[in-house]
Amino acid sequence: MYNDLEKVIINEKEIQNKVQELGSAIAHDYMDKEPLLICILRGAVFFFADLCRAIDIPVQMGFVSLSSYGHGTTSSGKVEERQKLMADVQGKHVILVEDIIDTGLTLEGYGANLMNRGALSVKICALLKKPEQKHKIEIAYKGFDIENKFVVGYGLDYAEHYRNLPYIGILKKEIYS
Ligand code: PRP
Repeated sequence: MYNDLEKVIINEKEIQNKVQELGSAIAHDYMDKEPLLICILRGAVFFFADLCRAIDIPVQMGFVSLSSYGHGTTSSGKVEERQKLMADVQGKHVILVEDIIDTGLTLEGYGANLMNRGALSVKICALLKKPEQKHKIEIAYKGFDIENKFVVGYGLDYAEHYRNLPYIGILKKEIYS
């Protein structure tokens, strides 16, 4: 798999250091709140598992898979739960855990949706952020700003490959073009 990469942009050590940093910030901000962390499947799975263990206060865990329509089109964009949310957000302080924010479409509106379902607060924690979001969302906890290239690894895929790489790299153009 390594040979399919143009270069590694974030290595294992850098990922783990950042995860610890984000975990400490969340533990500090949510002391006595026992937040509900929700993993946005599937890309966030490794980040979520590492992040939960880097937070030194009690947390609850939930899972959901969201599917968005409208990527690359002019349609308004709509997001649905492809796999229903496995958690009750009623009365909870929620943190949505994402691997990457690209256009922002997937999470746009989902926070408001959870507030309507009784969450007390909803924030976003994302490991990676691309430069421009067409759909404006606020990222409370951000790992790395990355350039607008096709990245894989640590949960991120190209046609379901490369998710299990332990680092994040840029995919060679000839692989996907
Ligand atoms: C990816 C990623 C985010 C979303 C980000 O998920 O994991 O959820 O796209 O893109 P956006 O900011 O433009 O909405 P994808 O739909 O590929 O599903 P996956 O996590 O199962 O790979």
